[in-house]
Amino acid sequence: MYRFKCSIGFVQFRGVLVASIRDVAKEAGVSLGTVSNAINRPEVLAPRTLRKVQKVIEDMGFVPNASARNLRAGRNRVIGLVVPDISNPFFTDLAKGVNDAAFAAKYVVILCNTDESTEKENQYLDVLSAQNVEGILITPARDTNRALASVTEKGIRLALVDRPALGLQACSVAVNDSYGGSLALTHLQELGHRNILLLTGKEDIPQVADRNAGIREALKKISAAERPEITELRLDSMSAASAYEVIKRKIDSGIDFTGIICGNDLIALGAIRAFREKNIAVPEEVSVIGYDDIDFADSANVPLTSISQPAYELGYAAAELIISECENPERHVHQRIEFQPRLIVRSSTAPTKSHRANLKIS
Ligand code: RIB
Repeated sequence: MYRFKCSIGFVQFRGVLVASIRDVAKEAGVSLGTVSNAINRPEVLAPRTLRKVQKVIEDMGFVPNASARNLRAGRNRVIGLVVPDISNPFFTDLAKGVNDAAFAAKYVVILCNTDESTEKENQYLDVLSAQNVEGILITPARDTNRALASVTEKGIRLALVDRPALGLQACSVAVNDSYGGSLALTHLQELGHRNILLLTGKEDIPQVADRNAGIREALKKISAAERPEITELRLDSMSAASAYEVIKRKIDSGIDFTGIICGNDLIALGAIRAFREKNIAVPEEVSVIGYDDIDFADSANVPLTSISQPAYELGYAAAELIISECENPERHVHQRIEFQPRLIVRSSTAPTKSHRANLKIS
């Protein structure tokens, strides 16, 4: 325990004696307002008075209440980050980007995980607003722009990350998920896959809806003779565990596909685990493509072909935008940044047997 050595009366704070602003005023023989001015507006005090108060503050080791001072100035350098699933390495990397940008600007981040729940999301938005954070970064669990619009209407600065702004008066940093979906479909189609399973979350998850739209757009561009048949399986959560259980049941009921497009890498890793347990070879019997290109994708038992998203850069760019708005609200102009996804081919996808025969690949 650390005690200040001084005869002046102190207040107890968690067992530690700390000088209060009242103690400083009494010792310096000035008013509370003069001590407050010495901290917040030294320019309004006579130099002699300022020096006297500053010496007492130093002698007593008084620590001005920074959060109270910031509150008065309407500044606390705190931003909130609300994401759907912090256990997904994609959002962990995104949060690291947010954190690094905040650190560089001397801000701190309050991280909120919604477990893809709109109810949790709205509660976090309420608490962050009540905490008077300077800005909120959010990846909406669902397309709940109604709740987000009410936050911006309260004057809370908001920026969307991994989501376009879609009509909100806010900055956004996103990835072209529709193009990402088309990359995945085209990759399997070019490998000769004509029966493809789409294993993903529900369409009220915006990223899922956009990727599926990209898949549908890509299908339209393929001639009927070459166009794959797509069957869809929806998961309650975009997790490895959920995919593992669903694919195990699907294998037992019979596999009627040679390729799987997964909603994200966690889903792909769960599916590959189920195939491995049922002795189904990936990619020889079934090709699997993920989405996100998380760190584990490269080091998985079967290195995963995936659609890469720059998660860290998404978070860093979004944090820079919201902090710029906090620092210069009068001059700020909302920006929409869009990153393009990339296809990263590894060994979880391969040509079908018939395609190999056509290409005379042994
Ligand atoms: O939250 C679902 C998915 O959306 C994540 O896996 C990541 O791809 C994000 O964009």
